[in-house]
Amino acid sequence: MKVLVIGGGAREHALCRSLSLDSDVNALYCAPGNAGIAEVAELRPVDQLDGEAVARLATELHADLVVVGPEAPLVAGVADAVRAAGIPVFGPSGEAAQLEGSKAFAKDVMAAAGVPTARSYVCTTPEEVDEALDAFGAPYVVKDDGLAAGKGVVVTDDREAARAHALGCDRVVIEEFLDGPEVSLFAITDGVTVLPLQPAQDFKRALDGDAGPNTGGMGAYSPLPWADPKLVDEVMASVLQPTVDELRHRGTPFSGLLYAGLAITSRGTRVIEFNARFGDPETQVVLARLRTPLASVLLGAANGTLDSLPPLSWREDAAVTVVIASHNYPETPRTGDPITGLAEVAAQDAPHAYVLHAGTRAEGDAVVSAGGRVLSVTATGSDLAEARDRAYKAVARIGLDGSQYRTDIAAKAAESR
Ligand code: AMP
Ligand code: GLY
Repeated sequence: MKVLVIGGGAREHALCRSLSLDSDVNALYCAPGNAGIAEVAELRPVDQLDGEAVARLATELHADLVVVGPEAPLVAGVADAVRAAGIPVFGPSGEAAQLEGSKAFAKDVMAAAGVPTARSYVCTTPEEVDEALDAFGAPYVVKDDGLAAGKGVVVTDDREAARAHALGCDRVVIEEFLDGPEVSLFAITDGVTVLPLQPAQDFKRALDGDAGPNTGGMGAYSPLPWADPKLVDEVMASVLQPTVDELRHRGTPFSGLLYAGLAITSRGTRVIEFNARFGDPETQVVLARLRTPLASVLLGAANGTLDSLPPLSWREDAAVTVVIASHNYPETPRTGDPITGLAEVAAQDAPHAYVLHAGTRAEGDAVVSAGGRVLSVTATGSDLAEARDRAYKAVARIGLDGSQYRTDIAAKAAESR
């Protein structure tokens, strides 16, 4: 099978790595990719947001499957254009991707499907904003309605800061604060059948101890030793299947990856957000643990034949990923800094630890930073403590001027073992 992956982050590197290890895949392309993905896939330049261009490229390459990684092309309808060209595509239609593209749409779907989530108001005027802030009280949760790469959400005790963020958005969702640990649970679906993956936990804040601003995600681990073993079944029944059913009944079936961001509160599990694609960095740890070859599963979702696949098989291993970010991420990340130590990790830490590239590009023989999140250093081990150890050993070999990473990824979970 010939597979084309659209995107160029660490998530796409993880997807390409798994696909490159799958004996069903005899040609693997990534557009536009990055310096690390170039080691496992052939790179092609493309404007990711241009559906016609992506469809043309897929046709030229005789792709049997296109996998759209990031949310922006999905919301822009890139999967629709590829599907219209008669090529199977893993990723929802632009309409179904509104589940991520509009927080207000997601809330409407959840209300109709009876999915537990935070109570919320959609506000468009300062008066509505004030009313909603007062109705819920502190801590205030204020979310830009549109796509914001994980940075459109402000959670604060400061009413003025909450109000200022709200007034800076055209349309804003203000909601009840959900207390409790967060879990990311992904499901692969063809619009009818839903296959849950293993849960992971992401670290959204920039600094150790969950301090600092929200980011796209600074690290992740899986499995979750502290979670209720019934969690996946419960979320399947209360969240994932009802959401997929609701979207199908509306005439906008969702196929691809449904990402449920959950809060485990004292009053039960609640959805914080949906995403319409694999999460980054959680994908790095979830795929590290998946034993089933990936291509047939993604193709089954694209073709509507997931019900005929055998159940997914998982490794006993634990996995941890640590994100190395640029100087000044997430505010104004500096790019163009040389990265060192990649060859040392490959020589000394493989196969248990490896580096997945996010924002990198080749400059002659050198690899330089090209984005906010630069690398996602991933490791497996017999338990979280071993995986964590191996990940941080590899992180220590990497040089990137001014870079930052969290030192506490999976630390608490590894201790509670
Ligand atoms: P989102 O983009 O909706 O995932 O929000 C980003 C982050 O903000 C989440 O991962 C949470 O850490 C936090 N957050 C969002 N909504 C809530 C909420 N209702 N209560 C508490 N924290 C929240
Ligand atoms: N890790 C959070 C996200 O992918 O949105």
